[in-house]
Amino acid sequence: MRIFINGQAHQIDAGPDAPLLWVLRNDLGLTAAKYGCGIGKCGACTVLVDGRAQRSCMILMRDVTGLPVTTLEGLAPTGADASNAAIVPLRNTFLAEQAAQCGYCIPGILMSAIALLDATPDPTRRQIREALADNLCRCGSQPRILRAVERAARTIRIEGKQDGTDVRS
Ligand code: FES
Repeated sequence: MRIFINGQAHQIDAGPDAPLLWVLRNDLGLTAAKYGCGIGKCGACTVLVDGRAQRSCMILMRDVTGLPVTTLEGLAPTGADASNAAIVPLRNTFLAEQAAQCGYCIPGILMSAIALLDATPDPTRRQIREALADNLCRCGSQPRILRAVERAARTIRIEGKQDGTDVRS
């Protein structure tokens, strides 16, 4: 099957019923998306499909045919989506808040945060909580994670105002 990931088309030797997470990790070596529960409950495997946060353990190859898939690797400084407005602020505030503890959940949480901030650049704390509600952190870092996403949103707002792209105020 053909799949479009991180700005590149790939021909994959996988059937239409193969979970996307398996293809990402086993066929493409993209290991940022993690296997946690395998049943759509933990969020460790979250990626963007056509800009929306999706559980890659629950999405089948047939579901992503013709749709762009973004993993955290695609948001790396050399990745196809490196210019995403939210990734640099998020990277900085996650470090500043020491939001990552063991780190296992962080790629999925970052993808959910990116989807939120791309769609809602000025989220309330409640919207952040709702967007991240299904991303579990077993270390108990949620307060720091929430603060990091709030700080990133604030940075994006300020930078948007400075370069004149924010038309909301
Ligand atoms: Fe996909 Fe847990 S591994 S939601």
